[in-house]
Amino acid sequence: MVKGRAARRWWCGGALLVSVLALLWLSGCAEVRSLQPQGLAAERIADLWWFQFFLALPFFLAVVILLLIAIRRHSRGGEVRPRNHGMTMIVWGGAILPALAMLALMSHTIYTLVGVTEPAERAELTVEVQGKLWFWNIGYSNSDETIFTANEIHIPAGEPVALALSSDNVIHSFWVPELNGKRDLIPGVPDGFWLQANQPGTYHGQCAEFCGAQHAKMHFLVIAHEPEEFAQWLEQERQPARMLMEGDENFRGQQVFLGSACIGCHTIRGTDASSTIGPDLTHIASRQTLGAGTLRNVTGNLAAWIVDSQQFKPGNLMPPMPLPSEDLIAILNYLQSLR
Ligand code: CUA
Repeated sequence: MVKGRAARRWWCGGALLVSVLALLWLSGCAEVRSLQPQGLAAERIADLWWFQFFLALPFFLAVVILLLIAIRRHSRGGEVRPRNHGMTMIVWGGAILPALAMLALMSHTIYTLVGVTEPAERAELTVEVQGKLWFWNIGYSNSDETIFTANEIHIPAGEPVALALSSDNVIHSFWVPELNGKRDLIPGVPDGFWLQANQPGTYHGQCAEFCGAQHAKMHFLVIAHEPEEFAQWLEQERQPARMLMEGDENFRGQQVFLGSACIGCHTIRGTDASSTIGPDLTHIASRQTLGAGTLRNVTGNLAAWIVDSQQFKPGNLMPPMPLPSEDLIAILNYLQSLR
């Protein structure tokens, strides 16, 4: 009977271990997202993590060893009696050492918090980041105007970039694991944050606060360029689209766009489309994804998205647009010319 119970316990333990390993293995099916720090703030956070890990390790090992000794004595039928130096153990092991460890941990945490909250040097560039349902509006201002793009934050590499975070709907959380920690976007409470990418590259970002049905499809990219390349990108991004005239290539596509429901939600700078409910489409063709990382921005996906984005991202504000095929092709060609 006792033997049967022990065997059952072994089986349960084995099954649990296999399930945990299977879960770890299956998690490899998800797209690989790196947690390797690639920026100043993320490095400080990783340092804190390792500090905490190595600080906790000896305590953990000591507790496990003491526990094993006690189990061994108990299983041999020996009596576990308090020793004379029990009090010393309690004072050192239960008070002094933990207090010192907590003090060290607290100091390092405060030091890291200060380091990740404010950039070491004043940032020259400030990027506006607005959390929407469910995408990100990204704004660049100069003395004349603020231009918007969506779901892609282009920055110069190797320098701190300030972010002005805001939300006019629900709470979102801005997170680029490789570059910095998380920062919530609280409606009505504009907040500052910053990023720095040590090297040019593309870094994945994700909303990290549940914000509704499509929270999981609220991705974004941080694209860090060499500073000169970034200046060129910004210069290009500032250019409005050209208002096309009859006889111009893609004129029909533009007219379909301006004559349909598209104009009720989107902006294409330079044309009559100036609504700000959905993402700005002035340079839509230069972006990598559609629907905040839902689909890759290629012709077939763009067509499917226009016809019925609800099948990819149910609940988003864009209604299905069942256009006649010639109109759809015209609008596709027009949108893909907006680079
Ligand atoms: Cu926005 Cu989750």
